[in-house]
Amino acid sequence: MPNKTYDALRQVIEGRRTVRRYTDAPVPEDDVRRILDAARYAPSSGNEQPWKFLVVRDRKRMDELRDAAVRVTLDYCRTKLGMTAEQIEEQRRTHTEYIAGCLSAPVLVAILVDKQAKWARYSRHDGALAAANLMLAARALGYGTIYGTDGIPETAVREVFSIPERYEFVILTPVGIPESWPEPPERKDLESFLVYERFE
Ligand SMILES: Cc1cc2nc3c(=O)[nH]c(=O)nc-3n(C[C@H](O)[C@H](O)[C@H](O)COP(=O)(O)O)c2cc1C
Repeated sequence: MPNKTYDALRQVIEGRRTVRRYTDAPVPEDDVRRILDAARYAPSSGNEQPWKFLVVRDRKRMDELRDAAVRVTLDYCRTKLGMTAEQIEEQRRTHTEYIAGCLSAPVLVAILVDKQAKWARYSRHDGALAAANLMLAARALGYGTIYGTDGIPETAVREVFSIPERYEFVILTPVGIPESWPEPPERKDLESFLVYERFE
């Protein structure tokens, strides 16, 4: 049975893409607020709405973030992964490129959740659900996003934006007009996910 609401929603859902390079076309504040207003309508545990949406437009801060992210990542590669000097240089090149792509967007949004919320043990769910709304609302307005967990390491994000200990970091996403919309990555068939009634 045709249903226009479903079709419109489905078009946004299917059209959302992880976008790793952006144009410098401006993102008006009004659009950022519409996107975040949609994010806050996500369900949350006990309806606590434990979110903070950190919005960043300052280029100098983004440059600081780039430097901190590369430093933290390379430290990790050196101390925890025991990479050789050559591997580190390769990592520096690829990671700097990845980060430059993310930071080519005019706006960054970090989704944080309050660890002091009553139902804090569910806060990551609350954060992820807000992120889903954010990404879909952004797509509906023509913007790309990334569900960015640790491509830009949390340590770097916390350091550069002075995030208080009280807030748990969930994701950092750019918001911007894509340089181009990536091809949709292949999806598994619906059948491969389905289990009816019980596992045999
Ligand atoms: C939990 C999670 C973590 C992710 N982390 C990153 C990330 O750190 N960097 C990145 O570029 N993409 C990240 N992604 C995006 C996925 O790579 C992407 O969603 C997937 O390849 C499907 O592509 P699509 O989003 O365009 O449909 C993440 C996605 C999820 C759900």
